[in-house]
Amino acid sequence: MRVAVFNQKGGVGKTTTALNLAAGLALGFHPVRLIDLDPQAHLSAIRGAPPADWRQSIYAHFPESTPLHELEVDWEGLGRFIPSHSELMKVDSAFGKGPEVLERLNRGMRDLDRSAPRRLTIIDCCPYLGVLALNAIFAADGLIVPVSSDYLSMRGAEQIERTLKALEPVLRRRVERRYLLTRFDRRRRMSFEVESRMRESFGRDVCETTISENVAVAESPAVNRHIFAHAASSRGAEDYAKLIDELSSQRFLRG
Ligand SMILES: Nc1ncnc2c1ncn2[C@@H]1O[C@H](COP(=O)(O)OP(=O)(O)OP(=O)(O)O)[C@@H](O)[C@H]1O
Ligand SMILES: [Mg+2]
Repeated sequence: MRVAVFNQKGGVGKTTTALNLAAGLALGFHPVRLIDLDPQAHLSAIRGAPPADWRQSIYAHFPESTPLHELEVDWEGLGRFIPSHSELMKVDSAFGKGPEVLERLNRGMRDLDRSAPRRLTIIDCCPYLGVLALNAIFAADGLIVPVSSDYLSMRGAEQIERTLKALEPVLRRRVERRYLLTRFDRRRRMSFEVESRMRESFGRDVCETTISENVAVAESPAVNRHIFAHAASSRGAEDYAKLIDELSSQRFLRG
């Protein structure tokens, strides 16, 4: 299956969540694939460095239809990885918005899934709703929407809900989604207020698990590590492990 991690708001924990979900699943011996679909290439930088040549990045799948299996590399201890490149920004301006371009990733993924059907794909998205993010939503069986625990992020979640409802007739299905409260600070009343309003508005679509504001989570990208390698006994590691248990038991994450 394929899960996209998306929110059009920046800095809410999309990359952090994509990385730590993939890492936690891999530690549980689940085969995973991470795709960096953000021209900012944050995930690619955490792995080491984005490729110098865009032909070795996910961008090559757009102008040249390079098969995705040719773009996959190993991420030691994690699984397979398709890196990004800053050229990816062009996808939103250079190829139009027709159904062909919006389905490009979905079609490419079908071939990949045939060769490794049990591998769970996690797609890290960019912070805007354009052709790139729509490619991820069209390709995904489920969407994880990290929402940092503040009022403006909550407004952003309401906007996403409207967008997803507007997409239903186009996709001819409901996009299964889970809103995930991130950067949850137990010392702030605001975190609890945002949580209770999110649960009121979105009910079962809000994850039970919340991800705490945690210094080890904030530090881990600087040392090119996921949270389980950086601080396995931290609150952040505990939260992400709990999230994996929750989403796996609901079969929202499955091979
Ligand atoms: N639970 C957390 N506790 C502390 N810091 C966090 C937490 N989650 C994320 N951060 C930090 O917040 C910043 C933004 O996180 P991240 O890059 O994952 O967000 P993003 O939504 O992917 O951003 P962008 O929209 O730019 O792609 C990073 O510096 C990250 O380390
Ligand atoms: Mg990011």
